[in-house]
Order: sequence, then structure tokens, then C-alpha cells
Amino acid sequence: MFAGVQSALDPYGPYAAVIAEITWVLFIGGALIFVLVMALAGWALWRRPAWLAQDRAIVWGGIVFPLVALSALLVYTLARGTALDSRQPPFAQIRVVGQQWWWQVTYLGPQGEVDFITANEVHIPVGREVEVVLDTADVLHSFWVPNLAGKLDLVPGKQNRMRLAAARAGTWRGQCAEYCGGPHAQMAFFVVAEEEEAFEAWRAQQRRPARSSNDLFNARCAACHTVRGTAAAGTLGPDLTHVGSRVSIGAGILSNNTGAIAGWIASSQHIKPGNLMPSFREFSGEELRSLAAYVEALK
Ligand code: CUA
Repeated sequence: MFAGVQSALDPYGPYAAVIAEITWVLFIGGALIFVLVMALAGWALWRRPAWLAQDRAIVWGGIVFPLVALSALLVYTLARGTALDSRQPPFAQIRVVGQQWWWQVTYLGPQGEVDFITANEVHIPVGREVEVVLDTADVLHSFWVPNLAGKLDLVPGKQNRMRLAAARAGTWRGQCAEYCGGPHAQMAFFVVAEEEEAFEAWRAQQRRPARSSNDLFNARCAACHTVRGTAAAGTLGPDLTHVGSRVSIGAGILSNNTGAIAGWIASSQHIKPGNLMPSFREFSGEELRSLAAYVEALK
């Protein structure tokens, strides 16, 4: 009933589990009080019991009860919320920079140096905690993977940090949760949790430069995109070195295949109106096919 790849009520990690528990306690607590108040209101309307009109009923039911109930829920929430504040050293640090309207994802080494850069996809090893360092290149964004953790804003001039952890392997969808202009609703990403061996293989592959270069890509796409190991070194758009290995393109909005890539290149403004990549209508069918095949093969 609550299952889904973007559902806070379907927790897959320790942090999301705490948040889901708090959600249910508050929801059930609120529902019980609502039912009680409605029952009393019904009783008062139909039976008009005298005791409900006395000062005592108002003091106990209208002041003491809400004070005690709300204080208890507040104390519970604050106490349980401390579990969201980890003191363990993280397994890895990942810097996520929100951009209009995509996510730059940088894996950091032990000294905080850049290990490699990717986009719109975060991989984590199962059972390990990673620290996500949140920055923005422009306006406010908000990083939210409901199945794995809470929601945290990316604030200009400030670095926020949060922990991500998954108890099982899987792929979950994250979404920008703070209106950031134009295609905000189409600013998504995926988090892939995998067993440590698969994660290390992925990480080793991401570190490598691309296997091939493409003249048309370098001539027309390199002003904005980087493909490490080639002449393409633009930084305005997502790093595409291993874009072919990602779940999605366009920041979580299209599945990744040659047809979708060709469609994205030719009419990105139709697919995601207002995004900063123009639609390239000038390519011939043959050029478009060869570009899309090149991009798709960047695994
Ligand atoms: Cu980024 Cu909304």
C-alpha cells in the first residue's frame, strides 16, 4: 500500500525508518485525539450533558489535556530525532551541488579531494553510512530521497550535511523538494544502493576516463559538457564521462537509451521546458543517431 521508489512510508534504511516511525506516532496520536474530540462534540450536540458545560471540563479538556498530549509528542519527537544525528565516521563523503535543474555529484577522497564527478545519480554501498555535503550553485534546492532519509535544503552560502544509508540493495528516486524556478518538478535523481563489491566496481569504473572520443560531440557539445579523457571539458552542464551507465538522463526524467538520448538532444526544450540545454534541431538524422550512440556507449 505504501511501497514505492519514492515513498517516505516505505523506509529502506535506518534514518528513513526513524522518520517513518515518528510520522506514524504523530499521525496515530493526532487521529486518536481527533476521534475523541469529534465524539465529545457529537455527545455535546445530541445529549447536551451538563458536565461538558462546566468550567472544570473546559480547564481539563481544553487546557490540561492538549498541554500534556502535545508536550508528550514534542518530547518524543525531539528524543527520537536524536537518532538522525550520527556520530559514526562516514564510509565516504559525497558532495552534491544543486544546479538549475540537475545535480552535480562529486565523490570525495579521504582528504576531501575530488575523486570523480558524475551527475544525477548517487551510488552507496549497502549497510554503510555516507555523508552527503549539500551545496548550491544558484538558488535554493532541496535534496530528498524519501525511502532513505529526511529532506534537507541546499542553501546559497551554507553547507548542509546529511547521512544516507540503505539496509538493502535497490534503486530509489529522489526529487528536488524546494521550488527553484522553471522545471523544478523535473529535477530528480536516483540513488542506487548495491553490495559493497558491486559498489567498488562501479566506483573504479567511474574513476576511469572515457574509452572513446567523438569529433561531432567535441565540436558541438564540449562548451557545456565534460567527457574525461577527451577534448570535451565544459562545466556548464552535467559531466557525461560515464553517462551511459546511469539509470536516467535529463535529471531523472527519461530512461537511458539511444532513442531517448537522441530525443533529448533534438528537443530537450520540449521534454523539459525552460532547462538550460537548447534543442539542437540542426543535426541531420544521421548525425543525431551517431551522437546518441556515442553518448549511450559512454559506460
Ligand atoms: Cu531544484 Cu527545485
